[in-house]
Amino acid sequence: MNEKVKTITEEEITSIQEYSPKHEVDFQLLANSDTGMYVKNRFLEFSRLMSYYKCAIMEIETKLNVLNVEYSLSMDRNPINSVKSRLKSLPSIFEKLERRELPQNMENIENELNDIAGIRVICAFTDDVYLIAEALLKQDDIVLIEKKDYIKNPKPNGYRSLHLIVSVPIFLAQEKRIMKVEIQLRTIAMDFWASLEHQLHYKKNFEFTDDMKQELLECATMSAELDSRMDALRDKALGSDREKH
Ligand code: GTP
Ligand code: MG
Repeated sequence: MNEKVKTITEEEITSIQEYSPKHEVDFQLLANSDTGMYVKNRFLEFSRLMSYYKCAIMEIETKLNVLNVEYSLSMDRNPINSVKSRLKSLPSIFEKLERRELPQNMENIENELNDIAGIRVICAFTDDVYLIAEALLKQDDIVLIEKKDYIKNPKPNGYRSLHLIVSVPIFLAQEKRIMKVEIQLRTIAMDFWASLEHQLHYKKNFEFTDDMKQELLECATMSAELDSRMDALRDKALGSDREKH
């Protein structure tokens, strides 16, 4: 990319950092890379796209809040324990495009990456994961693009979660935009395992031994068993929530 780099104002730097607060953008570093030039030259376009993803996250979060309120009335408990959202950081966006050997441009960011906007929904019980997913997918402005059920079919390492890629419209002053959002739904036990497993992989260049992989898999199996035992207890204590509807 041989584009002339424009100068970035302090104000622009503050605004780009706003949507990526955890990963402070090092503009000195970026200035020396193709990625840096790309972002600098298309700064406004890029910031606008990111703000659309932010809006899509807000739309889905509202839908989840509404469902939680409704179910808390009909079931006397909250099926959603917590919701965490994030926008993919600038370095991760470009690292992923690079990994897939895709040219770094706005079209590829929007068309090829499905997880710029990410929402994680932590539910109480396994049934709740499916209850919330179904209720969300039934809504007529939500379109399911891809579904991966790692609960019914866990990954070989033991990872469990229900992954949905959906599109949701956002309504701007002059136009309607369809944005993609990645939603990961899991129970507290699944989240416990996934969060710790993720932390264990944090140290780069460290390969897990087969024994360690086996140990992690056993922990995942224990967490799956914990879920089924809690599900069974819930059924005894409350009856199946579904029967009440
Ligand atoms: P990515 O290129 O990472 O997005 O993978 P993918 O396109 O094959 O999607 P997949 O649905 O398999 O995984 C997407 C996301 O799920 C990851 O970015 C993680 O947040 C989470 N995830 C998937 N596998 C694991 C895992 O083994 N451990 C943990 N902790 N998280 C995982
Ligand atoms: Mg991802």
